[in-house]
Amino acid sequence: MGDPMSDTYVGAIDQGTTGTRFMLFDHDGRVVESAYEKHEQKYPEPGWVEHDPLEIWENTQHVVTTALDEADVAADQLEAIGITNQRETTLLWDADSGSPIHDAIVWQDRRTTDRVEQLESEGKVEDIRAKTGLEPDAYFSATKAEWLLDNTDPIKLQRARPADIRERAEEGEILFGTIDSWLIYNLTGEHITDVTNASRTMLFDIHEMDWDDELCEEFGVPREMLPEVRPSSDDETYGSTDPDGFLGAEIPVAGAFGDQQAALFGQTCFDAGDAKNTYGTGSFFLLNTGDEAVESEHGLLTTVGFQRSGEPVQYALEGSIFVTGAAIEWLADVGFIDDAAATESMARSVDSTDGVYMVPAFTGLGAPHWNQRARGTLVGMTRGTRKEHVVRATLEAIAYQTRDVAEAMEADSGIDIESLKVDGGAVKNNFLCQLQADILGADIVRPVVDETTALGSAYAAGLAVGYWDSTDDLRTNWQVDREFEPKMSEAEADEMYDRWEDAVERSLGWARE
Ligand code: G3P
Repeated sequence: MGDPMSDTYVGAIDQGTTGTRFMLFDHDGRVVESAYEKHEQKYPEPGWVEHDPLEIWENTQHVVTTALDEADVAADQLEAIGITNQRETTLLWDADSGSPIHDAIVWQDRRTTDRVEQLESEGKVEDIRAKTGLEPDAYFSATKAEWLLDNTDPIKLQRARPADIRERAEEGEILFGTIDSWLIYNLTGEHITDVTNASRTMLFDIHEMDWDDELCEEFGVPREMLPEVRPSSDDETYGSTDPDGFLGAEIPVAGAFGDQQAALFGQTCFDAGDAKNTYGTGSFFLLNTGDEAVESEHGLLTTVGFQRSGEPVQYALEGSIFVTGAAIEWLADVGFIDDAAATESMARSVDSTDGVYMVPAFTGLGAPHWNQRARGTLVGMTRGTRKEHVVRATLEAIAYQTRDVAEAMEADSGIDIESLKVDGGAVKNNFLCQLQADILGADIVRPVVDETTALGSAYAAGLAVGYWDSTDDLRTNWQVDREFEPKMSEAEADEMYDRWEDAVERSLGWARE
């Protein structure tokens, strides 16, 4: 008898900041097919970033059907679908029509900076931190939802919007969601989020594991508009796709994860002490702390790592770095590079940055600095500076920012980080991986499947429906592609890093409004 799993798969929708990917995985955790589509980045005002939720949903359907077609896999060969998503990005939609009332406000958006500063001046930071594990910042969903409920200016909204929005929200007729909720709603008709995404809203108490009434009141977000919170891997499933819908089959949607937690799971960081760093638009360094929510004293976030049905919540410490891969995109935007792959040879073509430092604080600085008004800074240029130096400085900035959060992580956890699992698009760059090992003074371990975000959500969905039996199955799937050991002397790395800290100082507090 053949293996009953050999012609069935689990699909993962990875809805990221710059685009949407659908990946098909087989029982060995191998990528069978993948399709990707970018969506428009809208910058209506300086510091604002928006996405069109309808474009995201259309792209999602398109990448799913494209990958299935290309793999010659029928929809009913899917055992389950998992979702993973850019976190914190916020939208409201009409429960009757399913139409968004505004473009989604992206996690990078800074429009609510003043509101967060008001919270600081009112002495509310400690309380919020204690409940949510988060450092109050415009990054999280709460102030974005508040802005959407409060602002009636049709020019700012660029879209007609019901005048009685707040009343309708109180009746549960206008719904709040992060991107996972939006996709689950469109796929299954259910209004659900998972614990990891809920933990990024700044409305959710990560100890009580419930929406917090005081925070809902603070931000004027009625509880009635909030989704039901469910485990990241849910045996009950969130619902199924409509057999008469775009997929033409009834497939359970059984797992959802914020993308960084998905990568933690996909890297099989199931136990306390396991850590990973994902290099995407930003970089997000997560350390599993088991069932203990460790409070950070060094500027990290305490967040929900994952939860499987019937099992205790697993927490994580997180170092959120807002801009890493996005800085490489910026290099392309300004014409310094043709594409991301070019950075490796350009960086190698010079011996050093010649004293140039780049602090890519385009959307403020996240962990461990939490400076909303920091802005991008390029220092140390001379008449001899060439674009190769700036490219190298940009790659170095990625490595330095990781060291910033790694040092905070070591100080908070008491764990010496000797080796770090990495993933995400930028780890294809061997120069960056070696540099990261050198600057960190730790081994960098790159797995065979570097799309661990999608893999993690496939694992969550597949475990829920019994496609995989246990996390032991998943551990045997994880394989090393390459390990990078530090080659630079510690003294040299420290000297380079000291200057980085000076450059960061110069970027802080730059933006006035
Ligand atoms: O918190 C933001 C994060 O989830 C975005 O991830 O991969 O879209 O850059 P990514």
